Amino acid sequence: MATALKVVPPEESVTKFVARKHKMLINGKWVDSASGKRFPTYNPATGEVLAEVAEGDREDIDRAVEAARNAFENGPWPRLTASERGRLIWKLADLIEENLEEFAELESLDNGKPLKIARVADVPMAVDLFRYMAGWATKIEGNTIPISVPYTPGVKYLAYTLREPVGVVGQIIPWNFPLLMAAWKLGPALTAGNTVILKPAEQTPLSALRLGELIAEAGFPDGVVNIVPGYGETAGAALAAHPGVDKVAFTGSTEVGKLIVQAAAGNLKKVSLELGGKSPSVVFADSDLDTAIKEASSAIFFNHGQCCCAGSRLFVESKAFDKVVDGVAKTAEKIKLGPGFEPSTEMGPLVSKEQLDRVCGYLESGFAEGAKAVTGGTKAGDRGYFVKPTVLVNTNDRMKVVREEIFGPVVTVLPFNDTAELVPRANNTEYGLAAGIWTKDIRKAHQVAAQLRAGTVWINCYNIFDAALPFGGYKQSGWGREMGHEVLEQYTEVKAVCTAI
Ligand code: NAI
Ligand code: MG
Repeated sequence: MATALKVVPPEESVTKFVARKHKMLINGKWVDSASGKRFPTYNPATGEVLAEVAEGDREDIDRAVEAARNAFENGPWPRLTASERGRLIWKLADLIEENLEEFAELESLDNGKPLKIARVADVPMAVDLFRYMAGWATKIEGNTIPISVPYTPGVKYLAYTLREPVGVVGQIIPWNFPLLMAAWKLGPALTAGNTVILKPAEQTPLSALRLGELIAEAGFPDGVVNIVPGYGETAGAALAAHPGVDKVAFTGSTEVGKLIVQAAAGNLKKVSLELGGKSPSVVFADSDLDTAIKEASSAIFFNHGQCCCAGSRLFVESKAFDKVVDGVAKTAEKIKLGPGFEPSTEMGPLVSKEQLDRVCGYLESGFAEGAKAVTGGTKAGDRGYFVKPTVLVNTNDRMKVVREEIFGPVVTVLPFNDTAELVPRANNTEYGLAAGIWTKDIRKAHQVAAQLRAGTVWINCYNIFDAALPFGGYKQSGWGREMGHEVLEQYTEVKAVCTAI
């Protein structure tokens, strides 16, 4: 772990932005919270306060919902053509791209991730998502439908469907990819013509606030996007329960996902959820083992394991077990931990003290149940929220570390003998977000892919995301899909129009 911080200083524009008195965006204006309260966001590499941000609560959510409703019904927004809407979204993508370095630095400071990763993954993927969604604005189409009504003989009809925006949408996002999660949510909502109240995670509000400035600069009408930072139990809960909100979209823990569903029941608002996972990575002995070791390691250690789709249960065919355990452990040992701004850093700190304690608590529970760490197994350093990349063996399918989402750089490696044994064990989880398979046998790969109950299956690769590829969960990993054209179903209502002619 780097103790001598040879850290690249942030750009001047970033330092200035961070030092600001951060407000919230309601109806196109930057305003303080109704209560006047503010909350801190921390630099996870040091544990020091990074910035203070206006703390939204019920009253702020009320104002934001009113602004979004007004913008949906009366503003210039509903009168824009689909092409004009698409161009605004495209413009936003251009503006993010022009400020790529600034966004990457904000993500690294607030979330802790390596700056070099934010530069090549988080920010370019957000840009790409907005561009992909910009194109959809002019392609959200209904159908003309031949109908044959038995009880009106002789009458002819012209029947067609329209896809209309759902209305006012509340979006609650997590801290693991702050800008990218904002993009996944805002892109489809806006292309379909909705208006939005976005609540960023309390751990990482800064990039969403900077995004709010660019949304105004791109020319979105006031009130179309409102950004209310604040805590989940207050601002988030108020948004999920609000009777003036037509739909809520959430990414985060399965536990809070269930609270969102309950809160949404009051006015039966539409709900989409992208929740936790405990995804199986499956390495067959006939795979290219060097590649499988590299990719299965990255499946768990990318973003410090703070990925809903992290390949956290690594199943290895018995013949290759020792080799793969050794390879993944060696890979883990080589990962350079350090602050996100240190150029050689490959893994930063976890996002918060809470997550550090949670992950360390899981490690202790694993050891208490008999698991052994081949490498790692503890926190690292005494400053910031670092955990050593950890490989656990001597585990079984009943252990808490194998069943529950850890959301840290901790993989449990489990041997299996054949496909018939593997499939039910891989599926033996309440989650169903993703899975990975490594084998040279293409037939076996597709047979196993067909049997895995997961929203995404990667074959001979992992963590491959694209704006055009739908992503989401089976079982308790969620409701609905994000990205691809599937996401548009989450942000449109279908109207059937039937005309006697
Ligand atoms: P969380 O689910 O509490 O937070 C996610 C978002 O939900 C944040 O914006 C938060 O403010 C909001 N929220 C929290 N309580 C709420 C409520 N009652 N009503 C409305 N909104 C609420 O997740 P947290 O506590 O940050 O992390 C805990 C665990 O959740 C992690 O260890 C991980 O297992 C999982 N998680 C999963 C994510 C994913 O991408 N699926 C992302 C973040 C966390
Ligand atoms: Mg923070």
